[in-house]
Amino acid sequence: MQFDYDVTEISVSTRPLPKNFEKHLEGTGIKARLLSIYMFITEYFKKSIRPLRVMSLKGKVAIVTGAGGGVGRATTERLAAEGTKVVMVGRERKKLMKVISEVNDSKNLLPVSADVTKEAEVLNAIEQAISAFDRIDILVNNAGVLNEATPFHLMTDDQWLPLINTNLIGTFRTTKAVLPIMMERNDGGSIVNISSILGIRAIPKVPFSVYGVTKAGVIMFTKSIAVEYGQYNIRCNCVAPSTIRSPIIEPYLQDENAKMVLESSFPLRRIGDPEDISGAVCYLCSDDAKWITGTILTVDGGITAKQ
Ligand SMILES: NC(=O)c1ccc[n+]([C@@H]2O[C@H](COP(=O)([O-])OP(=O)(O)OC[C@H]3O[C@@H](n4cnc5c(N)ncnc54)[C@H](OP(=O)(O)O)[C@@H]3O)[C@@H](O)[C@H]2O)c1
Repeated sequence: MQFDYDVTEISVSTRPLPKNFEKHLEGTGIKARLLSIYMFITEYFKKSIRPLRVMSLKGKVAIVTGAGGGVGRATTERLAAEGTKVVMVGRERKKLMKVISEVNDSKNLLPVSADVTKEAEVLNAIEQAISAFDRIDILVNNAGVLNEATPFHLMTDDQWLPLINTNLIGTFRTTKAVLPIMMERNDGGSIVNISSILGIRAIPKVPFSVYGVTKAGVIMFTKSIAVEYGQYNIRCNCVAPSTIRSPIIEPYLQDENAKMVLESSFPLRRIGDPEDISGAVCYLCSDDAKWITGTILTVDGGITAKQ
């Protein structure tokens, strides 16, 4: 058999040969043939039993804002389960500590009290993340507030300023603080922003105009950052949930009848759970989504498909 390449070299690049394998074949004249059979078999097994990784998030470091709330907690828990170290940001330390005690993984979770509307507190949180874990691979901009449903003409500055400051400017602040760290390390990064389907469409009898504007801003911000920072292999994506069972929405679920009407309006006949969102967030954070950027993923039980 003629080979125009060095079979030993090729076998090394596929899988190491067993110890003394070549020595046994020395001078037999069948070395090349056996080597090619061996290579064929190892290649075959490599292809057929390639291990399936669920998500490639192990060893990464993430910052999750609003980590003490419904979606933030579920995201923290899922990231930690995937082997990611999580810096949990929120204003109330008590909420963060409660999540840590429930997740029971204090080694990989760092609670940091910070208000995303305050630049100094955001910078301090980033500093704490770096000094604890030395890097930041992932930022999940999840902290958000929702006002009481109010017709727009009745809204006051006191109602809309917190929405704009938290949902929009808070997202700007954390992103601005993290980008230079990701760029400097030259190893890419992943940012996931949490918007809402109210950032895509207005819903009759659901007067959340300014909230919707902040979430629409988050969507456009996602696309802009994706385009501007793709050259550094920094990805930026967005998850737009519909109604999720969480503290922010609890007041609207008190009336059993209204809740039933709401649930039956979804093609999947239920509102979402925080875990429905955290799975999508973790996917977008992970290397499994390494060619996805600037995308808006609606996670909504199918509701936008029918509106
Ligand atoms: N639930 C839904 O139906 C739904 C639907 C669409 C989109 N979303 C979006 O999903 C995200 C998470 O919402 P959620 O349902 O999980 O609500 P949540 O349970 O109320 O959690 C929001 C978290 O954000 C934190 N937060 C608020 N303002 C902050 C600030 N200035 N600085 C730092 N942290 C702040 C809060 O913690 P502290 O009070 O301790 O700071 C809270 O834990 C939000 O962006 C929300 O707009 C939710």
